[in-house]
Amino acid sequence: MSINVRPMRWWDIESVVAIEEPVFESTAWSAGQFWGELARDDRAYVVMDDDEGVVAYAGLLVRPPTADVQTIAVAPRARRRGLATTMLRHLLKVADAADCREIMLEVRADSAGAIALYERHGFEVIARRTSYYGPGLDALIMRHKRGNA
Ligand SMILES: CC(C)(COP(=O)(O)OP(=O)(O)OC[C@H]1O[C@@H](n2cnc3c(N)ncnc32)[C@H](O)[C@@H]1OP(=O)(O)O)[C@@H](O)C(=O)NCCC(=O)NCCS
Repeated sequence: MSINVRPMRWWDIESVVAIEEPVFESTAWSAGQFWGELARDDRAYVVMDDDEGVVAYAGLLVRPPTADVQTIAVAPRARRRGLATTMLRHLLKVADAADCREIMLEVRADSAGAIALYERHGFEVIARRTSYYGPGLDALIMRHKRGNA
């Protein structure tokens, strides 16, 4: 498996949505939403590939002094092999290069795996938003302070 992180391009969107829909179900982004994200110049979206094609993707909103992790997902067939870690490290470097002092994100409160991933990378829960993703689907707001911020 390639361990390279590369920029997401419009021709990746179909493969990305094929991962997105079963993973996020009712809160999944549409192809149109990904098109919209790629059209913005303050976004950094990446993908990783295996022999079958796109297997993981992630995105960052970069507005110094803050950056926001917009999404991160790995196809079930490729989990627990460090792909999310590789993408998250890449996004943190992008944020650092843009002099962002804090990285924010929202994550579903029932996404134990994702929360563990983020905590391992220095994110801390700073708030909870009740029913943010729909009835009974709470969000945790997490923050990672960079440098001396
Ligand atoms: C969360 C997700 C992105 C992790 O991807 P991944 O490539 O499997 O993650 P990694 O292999 O880099 O895991 C790094 C560490 O994160 C933690 N972690 C990841 N998945 C975990 C899980 N299911 N349960 C507990 N800890 C988990 C572990 O500490 C892991 O290290 P370890 O494997 O040495 O124990 C993936 O499970 C996923 O796509 N989930 C559904 C989408 C989602 O919830 N996205 C985040 C919200 S936007």
